[in-house]
Amino acid sequence: MLRQVVRNVERILPSWNPEVATSIFGVNISRSCGTTYSRRYSMKPKEMPSDNGLLFRQLFHEGTYTYTYLLACSKTRDAILIDPVDDMVDRDLKYADELGLNLIYGINTHVHADHVTGTGKLKEALPNLKSVISAKSGASADKCLENGNIITFGTEYLECRETPGHTGGCMTYVSHDHRMAFTGDALLIRGCGRTDFQQGNPSQLFDSVHKQIFSLPDNYRLYPGHDYKGFTVTSVGEEKTLNPRLTLSKEKFIEFMRELNLAYPRLIDVSVPANLKCGTLSKAAHDGSQQILDKLH
Ligand SMILES: [Fe+2]
Repeated sequence: MLRQVVRNVERILPSWNPEVATSIFGVNISRSCGTTYSRRYSMKPKEMPSDNGLLFRQLFHEGTYTYTYLLACSKTRDAILIDPVDDMVDRDLKYADELGLNLIYGINTHVHADHVTGTGKLKEALPNLKSVISAKSGASADKCLENGNIITFGTEYLECRETPGHTGGCMTYVSHDHRMAFTGDALLIRGCGRTDFQQGNPSQLFDSVHKQIFSLPDNYRLYPGHDYKGFTVTSVGEEKTLNPRLTLSKEKFIEFMRELNLAYPRLIDVSVPANLKCGTLSKAAHDGSQQILDKLH
């Protein structure tokens, strides 16, 4: 049977090379197809494809258009969640369990105003998991980060870059090994986070994006905290060229942001106090949050 497959491939591709077949099919196979066939990869039930050692998944919360990112070291199975949402913690735990992962950090890019972080619920389910946020956010957490700190999970790592301006404590997390960055709300695809509350400052946001994000190589992929139009990923080069806000001059950007006149965030009075404790909510606060959501849906 295998011999027949090889003959067919040779017929279709006269210059077929067994080396190429090896890389395509993931098997060692000799042209003679005698006894040298052997599997190079043995897929165990919990072994998943990874991008050069990193297992990466982008997850979505419909209610607030929030992205949560699951990253794991495919060698050790140590894993982190960036910006988990409290309503979706059951999904995230089940998913991590199915993949055989060991969640060690629940990381927030900032103190969110539009939803309650899932780190509190994650810690209830996984007592060894640590909550993480920037020191400048003013939130309490197991681990408070500063500019230049490194977060490691297995053989993977993220560099922490402070990107204040949307809030005073925003942090962007960068994987240089995989040429990707998680920007929270500092930079959205063709947009950016608002700057009219939580120590927001358009001048600071402009500087943060240009100095900490646009200074990365153009081919770094950028993963935002939200998207409202169906986009999932962008790149440094793309946003440097096409972002309608951040391609403005600094003066024009500040003027634009000051004139947005956006509505007051619907959950800010519930979310911010809870998120300042990394999602450890009192029952009263949780019930209040649910009542507001019920009215809105
Ligand atoms: Fe935000």
